Amino acid sequence: MDFVKELDLLIRSRYPVIYVRTSEEERACNVAANIARAQKKNLLQWSSTEGLRLVESFHGGLMPGGDELRQPVAALEAILQDTGRAIYVMKDLHAFLDDRPTVRKLRDLYQNLKRSYKTLIILAPAKKIPPDLEKEVYFLRMPLPDTEMLRKLLLDIARTLRQDGRVQIAHADTLVPHIADAALGLTLDEAERVFFKAIARDATLSEVDIQYVRDEKRQIVQKSGLLEYYEAVEDLGKVGGLNQLKHWLRRRARAFEPQAREYGLPAPKGLLLLGVQGCGKTLAAKAVAGSWGFPLLRLDMSRIFGSLIGSSEENMRHALEMADAVSPCVLWIDEIEKTFSGIESSGMSDAGTTARVFGSFLTWMQDKKGSVFCVATANSVSRVPPELLRKGRFDEIFFVDLPNAEERREILTIHLQRRRRKADAFDLAALTARSEGFSGAEIEQAILSAMYDAYDESREVSTRDILRALEAAVPLSVTMREDIEALREWAKHRARPAT
Ligand SMILES: Nc1ncnc2c1ncn2[C@@H]1O[C@H](COP(=O)(O)OP(=O)(O)O)[C@@H](O)[C@H]1O
Ligand SMILES: [Mg+2]
Repeated sequence: MDFVKELDLLIRSRYPVIYVRTSEEERACNVAANIARAQKKNLLQWSSTEGLRLVESFHGGLMPGGDELRQPVAALEAILQDTGRAIYVMKDLHAFLDDRPTVRKLRDLYQNLKRSYKTLIILAPAKKIPPDLEKEVYFLRMPLPDTEMLRKLLLDIARTLRQDGRVQIAHADTLVPHIADAALGLTLDEAERVFFKAIARDATLSEVDIQYVRDEKRQIVQKSGLLEYYEAVEDLGKVGGLNQLKHWLRRRARAFEPQAREYGLPAPKGLLLLGVQGCGKTLAAKAVAGSWGFPLLRLDMSRIFGSLIGSSEENMRHALEMADAVSPCVLWIDEIEKTFSGIESSGMSDAGTTARVFGSFLTWMQDKKGSVFCVATANSVSRVPPELLRKGRFDEIFFVDLPNAEERREILTIHLQRRRRKADAFDLAALTARSEGFSGAEIEQAILSAMYDAYDESREVSTRDILRALEAAVPLSVTMREDIEALREWAKHRARPAT
């Protein structure tokens, strides 16, 4: 349900204490004010600096005043005594929720509010509800603004500036939706600042502002510290081999269009790429974004767990929420087994945090309806939690093996061209044969190492140099033979070959 409707309904159904997680205080206050107006209730706001203030008044009731109401306990007592019908929005209360008297007062208040037409709304940027209040408090997240809201904001700004005669805005009707969409994922405040900047820097609203807003957004998402944002970089042309995987992806390139939903198809959920190290899993993950023209968001688990702000679970939810808002996008989790391998022991080692963070990720994957395509990679199966491999999570699990002869030829060609060489100037047949058992990464390394040698001797690199480099290297397929065999054995029945 839409957030405003849900909050309205909760208040009408007399939920006494509602905890709203949001970093957008002003927007949340406006929502509360609209609801208060519609329900003909007084609206009061509390913050630790201003105390309790009356914002909207429909009838008699509490007329707060006095410095002592800056104390949370005193403010809660005043609310308890209030005889009117009112909504109280409290801004900094979460900072006092480890204070015994405040928690006590809230519990007393709960009993009183239940039998009244008064509602307490706690606004907080993170979920932090003490265990002995969990039953009393209804928790709700305010989602980021949707397209509709952003369009309205941009139109308002454009209208104001145009009336001032300060800016030129042509084709507003066609541009506004695109620019608004580019801002999805931002808070209303952030979007407002970005829109103003976009218009102010050249006194017009034009095509180039779409990219400008995207660039600004990238910086803002980056600053959240939870996701890394890349504009689409690689494309599938840079990936050698993996034809089955490429085919699968091409077949789904159009599946994110709204027409596909009308056709009766769900949006693709995502892929797990599992297999031998250095064979292009990470590269392919990046290329998916590039080939579909989606931004790539990297979900880096060390940031989720390591961030100083918010709990790990909240961070995970927030990151997923941002991804949802930025969609269509590719959400990429590299080497997923590294983070989620400790789940079974999580109860003992970290009080279950890893397990809960993993749980919220799984739930999100399961229920996901938006156009976030999730690509996860893994280098080993033994440490991948079995829940991830179950049907309904990823659309498909692809096994990425060492490249076969045809693929090695493609990889050689790609990397020679990337180093400004014409591939047909080399004996590709010999190189292909000699590189058997080498991964894509190792083939790339051999080419580079040959080029360093040749450059040092001030001459052009030749087939012989590369052959020699291949000769000198011991590929992982030799040192890790048993691991690779085990991986293949596992994948035989459980994953689809990428080749
Ligand atoms: N199939 C491939 N085609 C082209 N280059 C490859 C391929 N596989 C590996 N490489 C090269 O090796 C590098 C490392 O590969 P990567 O994608 O990180 O492997 P993985 O994630 O499977 O361990 C890539 O950036 C790319 O330069
Ligand atoms: Mg990798």
